[in-house]
Amino acid sequence: MREADDNRSNTAPGHVAIIMDGNGRWAKARGLPRTAGHKKGVDAVRRTVEAARELGIGTLTIFSFSSENWRRPEEEISDLMGLLRFYLRSEVAELHRAGIRLRVIGDRNRLSEDINRLIDNAEGLTRDNRVMTLVVALSYGSRLEIVHAARRLAEEVAAGRLSPGAIDEDALSARLYTADIPDPDLIIRTSGEKRISNFLLWQAAYAELVFVDTLWPDFTKRDLEAAIEEFHRRERRFGATTAGSR
Ligand code: IPE
Ligand code: IPE
Ligand code: MG
Repeated sequence: MREADDNRSNTAPGHVAIIMDGNGRWAKARGLPRTAGHKKGVDAVRRTVEAARELGIGTLTIFSFSSENWRRPEEEISDLMGLLRFYLRSEVAELHRAGIRLRVIGDRNRLSEDINRLIDNAEGLTRDNRVMTLVVALSYGSRLEIVHAARRLAEEVAAGRLSPGAIDEDALSARLYTADIPDPDLIIRTSGEKRISNFLLWQAAYAELVFVDTLWPDFTKRDLEAAIEEFHRRERRFGATTAGSR
């Protein structure tokens, strides 16, 4: 699978992950409250999920709320949680009709009980869908995810169920939230910021990174296609020599 030139085809990347950034700036530029940007951001999510499905992407991960976003003002957090409730209530039937499986990754303990219930219902309803997997990263932070995985390994060793020598990359991967999800091939960040912000640090080891200036509420299918075209121009080597020099 990991051949040096595996992205030089016209097939869509198997897993695209998006850091959806710029809602606040989109609103500010229009003299609107930040919530207005987040609302438009939900429309962009809807558009992008549909576009990803049309393009034949197998897994789409969207970074919706980070573990660090809990530091935002209470009012903004409550607006974002309200939009999340709205999305989970209004979109899940449509996702299901489209054959999309929904998965949520992140620290679920910090989410309210009713949101956890909505997530459980959505994941349960869509479990067997195979057209595309939509992974929503919520209250997600990669360092904490790795810490939790390390703690689980330590607990298993302490309980005598695992020997320290058996801890390898696969053993750690298997204890991340993303255990059953392939690593991202392409990570897109909108809004012109060029950083990862604690997103999929382990899983992104060999992802191609594409940074675009578009603010998230303005993101369209065309932007997604352009990022995928950029991905196809890259040469993935996975540490090996270039394809031509073998
Ligand atoms: C992304 O937009 C949405 C979340 C992080 C929840 P921001 O809210 O970060 O928007 P900017 O970066 O302030 O423009
Ligand atoms: C990253 O955006 C998190 C999400 C898109 C959910 P932020 O706006 O929170 O990131 P920083 O603070 O600019 O790094
Ligand atoms: Mg931001």
